[in-house]
Amino acid sequence: MRKILVTGGTGYIGSHTVVELQKSGFEPVIIDNLSNSNAKIVDLIARITGRKPLFEKLDMCDLPALQSFFEKHDDIAGVIHFAAYKAVGESVNNPLKYYRNNIVSLLNLLQCMEMLQHKNLVFSSSCTVYGQPDNLPVTELAPVKPAISPYGNTKQIAEEIIRDTVSQQDIMAISLRYFNPIGAHESGLIGELPLGVPDNLVPYITQTAIGKREKLTVFGNDYDTHDGTCIRDYIYVSDLAKAHVVALNRMLDEKNEQSHEIFNVGTGTGYSVLDAINSFEKTTGVNLNWAFSDRRPGDVEQVWADTTLANLKLGWKAEKDLDVMMATAWKWEQTLATGIMEAGG
Ligand code: UFG
Repeated sequence: MRKILVTGGTGYIGSHTVVELQKSGFEPVIIDNLSNSNAKIVDLIARITGRKPLFEKLDMCDLPALQSFFEKHDDIAGVIHFAAYKAVGESVNNPLKYYRNNIVSLLNLLQCMEMLQHKNLVFSSSCTVYGQPDNLPVTELAPVKPAISPYGNTKQIAEEIIRDTVSQQDIMAISLRYFNPIGAHESGLIGELPLGVPDNLVPYITQTAIGKREKLTVFGNDYDTHDGTCIRDYIYVSDLAKAHVVALNRMLDEKNEQSHEIFNVGTGTGYSVLDAINSFEKTTGVNLNWAFSDRRPGDVEQVWADTTLANLKLGWKAEKDLDVMMATAWKWEQTLATGIMEAGG
């Protein structure tokens, strides 16, 4: 079984990707510093797949620790790099924390990958690099716009670092630009674990529905969209996870056409905030307490993906619709309410 390193593998997208890797016959090995995740996820992954992935608590900013990890695992056939801070607002207040963590960890990883025989990297990028695109749906050829937040800037800088490094270091890389990942594994055993008050729409919806939050605030009703609220391309987290496996296989099979390729990963359809609320209410039968407020600073009005490149070159297509995404997100919130993540749960 080919060994794949998953950095940030106990996190939201990472854990779903570990499941898909195991299902595809790979042996994922997780490193994570647990700064925004929980080691219990490793056991929950085992409950889903019947196999417990290897896990080591490790901070990738600690270069000697990362080097000794790579020395032990020099048979790694590919790396999927998720480990990063991701809270947009926090990055504005504490830019150095974001630059240090997200950039230094990538530099250390690229340095350590020199030791590997198989230097294949899948990088977790974001549609945030497009800002508000001039044309929709947005293709990979659209210009990268000045980043609105230090978080977004770390994604842009990381893509540049990878682009410059691959040509010099014999590394193959695919950057996946995610749109808005939501939902949870259909088992209801793993999902998003926001720290504190959620920034993102769907965890806020499910926490409001379960009674952890009093009311959902919808940021802005005067955008130039069909109902005045912002539009996003919501992508089911397990569909996104599968895109990583496909990207990895593309490099392992030496099918990639350039040493650094970039793909949009979305559904190709945009939904408004009110569409998302309606879908949640319809699929779960739960009425949501919500109200409009002012726009949230920094929000892009509307963005959705042109997924032609991923469809054609990766042979990958998103499968699940918004209702499935909402139903699984709700199932996961109900699992959390059982206390599964608490001690002894
Ligand atoms: N929203 C609300 N109320 C909330 C939370 C969100 O109305 O309580 C709205 C936002 O205004 C936006 C939409 O729901 O219109 C989606 O917001 P999210 O915060 O869920 O997602 P964003 O599109 O703002 O951000 C996501 C990722 C970022 C990434 C960005 C790229 O979380 O990591 O996409 O566009 F940078």
